[in-house]
Amino acid sequence: MDNTTRYIDIPQGIIDFYKMCRPSPLIRAYCLEKELGTPAKIYYKFEGNNTSGSHKLNSAIPQVYFAKEQGITGLTTETGAGQWGTALSMACAYYHMPLTVYMVRTSYEQKPYRKNIIETFGAKIIPSPSDTTNAGRAILEKFPGTGGSLGCAISEAVETAVTTPNTRYVLGSVLNHVLLHQSVVGIEAKAAMEMYDEYPDIVIGCAGGGSNLGGLIAPFMKDKIDGKRDTQFIAVEPASCPSLTRGKYAYDFGDTGRMTPLVKMYTLGCEFLPSANHAGGLRYHGMSAIISKLHADGYLDARAVEQTRVFDSAVKFARCEGLLPAPESAHAIHVAVEEALKCKETGEEKTILFGLTGTGYFDMSAYDSYLKGTMTDYIPTDEDLEKSFSQLPKVQ
Ligand SMILES: Cc1ncc(COP(=O)(O)O)c(C=O)c1O
Repeated sequence: MDNTTRYIDIPQGIIDFYKMCRPSPLIRAYCLEKELGTPAKIYYKFEGNNTSGSHKLNSAIPQVYFAKEQGITGLTTETGAGQWGTALSMACAYYHMPLTVYMVRTSYEQKPYRKNIIETFGAKIIPSPSDTTNAGRAILEKFPGTGGSLGCAISEAVETAVTTPNTRYVLGSVLNHVLLHQSVVGIEAKAAMEMYDEYPDIVIGCAGGGSNLGGLIAPFMKDKIDGKRDTQFIAVEPASCPSLTRGKYAYDFGDTGRMTPLVKMYTLGCEFLPSANHAGGLRYHGMSAIISKLHADGYLDARAVEQTRVFDSAVKFARCEGLLPAPESAHAIHVAVEEALKCKETGEEKTILFGLTGTGYFDMSAYDSYLKGTMTDYIPTDEDLEKSFSQLPKVQ
């Protein structure tokens, strides 16, 4: 990748796989519109139609394809919610590539069947922090009993890769090439909307490391940067892990063990350990450099939402659209609903597009706690954040 090549063709070997599940559907949420009584038109791009259940497969397939081409004989990775680990294990099964997955312990315990599906696809799965790496042991010593975080799991996966011959670590979000892979989502969405003579006034995506959002907004953002359109873009993150809305725009490590290169991004500090929010895929201390820059330059808005409000919208959506969303995706649903209700007040007929990144069939313990009324919200205090900001690397 470089800074000047605008389009990179998808190799035939990847297209052959994509034919099994792409293009993904662009769906108009007629029933949700009716339920809300809004004049807005609501569309969503649904990425949960493939067996792995989310958009993560869009990047898993090219990453394993290119690793195979390069002669790599083993891969390691981390997974939060389990969607990335599942997608990568599916891709590794397809290309016959051994894989070790470090899964954030909180999610591992919340979603026991993730282990079974990842093992069915032939990969090895280890809850993180673990005692299998120096990074894991150090984190366990410093934070005994911790449920882990994406930052910890990345450290363990990187360490295992660098200490195992001909093995590489692959990441399912944050990095520029992952956003590039996810741009297939936005390109398809734009093409499908053009067929109906539609163009979104608002594009909304949930943001963990920023990959689905970056991919969905890519072609629409180009029009905005070129001055052709004035679309509003909204990133939605959990109030428990608010990197864009309350983080610092600074150089930081991508992992808790401080092994990765420094990235300029919105960050809560690489030592920030988010509370056990049910949207495990959004519990990351940092954010994609591209998404961060767009936010810093005023092209992209950001909102943080508490998980109980997110699940209000997830359940409303499931009941009228007949689709059980992943908790991560439900963050985008929530803000789409808020925007559609604003249109109801003002009478504006805006066109809203949001990314429905995956299904929530492995997230039933989260739905269970919401439906029982035991779900709670945790919002870090300013003191919590200041404590982890004070650990940011000092960069001249
Ligand atoms: C279903 C789903 N949506 C969204 C995300 C957030 O990741 P990203 O911000 O990279 O799209 C995840 C991450 O695990 C996920 O599993």
